[in-house]
Amino acid sequence: MWGGAVERRYRKLRPEVERLPWGALDLSKAKPEAILAARTTWTEATFQEHRTGAACAATLQALIAARAPIDLVAMASRFTLDEMVHVEMCARLAQLLGGGAPIAYDPKGIIVLPSPELSATLAAAELVVRNFCVGEALSIPILRGSWHAARQPLIKAILARIVKDEAAHGAFGWIFLDWVDEQLTEADRLHLAKQAALTMDAVIERWAFFPTVANETAEDRLGWMDETTYLSVARRSLHKVVLEPLRAHGIDPLPWMKRSIDADSAH
Ligand SMILES: [Fe+2]
Ligand SMILES: [Fe+2]
Repeated sequence: MWGGAVERRYRKLRPEVERLPWGALDLSKAKPEAILAARTTWTEATFQEHRTGAACAATLQALIAARAPIDLVAMASRFTLDEMVHVEMCARLAQLLGGGAPIAYDPKGIIVLPSPELSATLAAAELVVRNFCVGEALSIPILRGSWHAARQPLIKAILARIVKDEAAHGAFGWIFLDWVDEQLTEADRLHLAKQAALTMDAVIERWAFFPTVANETAEDRLGWMDETTYLSVARRSLHKVVLEPLRAHGIDPLPWMKRSIDADSAH
């Protein structure tokens, strides 16, 4: 945070952050290894929110280049601010847990940009499909599940705030596809299907890296579901809130996916 007048303006935009119960985190019943796992998890969550902020900003620029309707662009212009709020909340939680865990990354390469050869419309559509129709749409049921599983009032309040913002982000992709629909050729739809497939495969690959703590109790779970619940929510949601609506919009990633939604092995 830069602080001073800048912070005051930011707080005015999003006063709900300071109203969260920051003093309520009680780690007395959690095992040290669970707290350590939570530091890593919430640092990674911070990084994901940071990346999503970059993805939302890139999408916004692409929407303007694609001459998307003003109200649609205006709707998307709020998302980067939302993501910065999420960054702050996740980072503050990681600090309360004992401090952020180290993460190495190339700051210039945190998001994948569409090929410069694409038309402005297709470039915007690719960013929306990857970041919103897959990424943001899928994050809603997973965050809601984590909110449901959370026992700590502070963690529950942070997740509730994020879920509230993400509902608008998750809906945005489908609104955009309704607008862009008549501009898309069959070749465009094929391109978008392949991009969606790559993104979905990457999501499925991450399922293998689930944080687990030996003899985990409810008190040790500082912000996530148990693995079985997580995987069943994630698999069901990838079908219901990503694959089915994409296919309803004439974009079918299934033939291009290397990984199966329903099993860990390739299909
Ligand atoms: Fe977010
Ligand atoms: Fe988001």
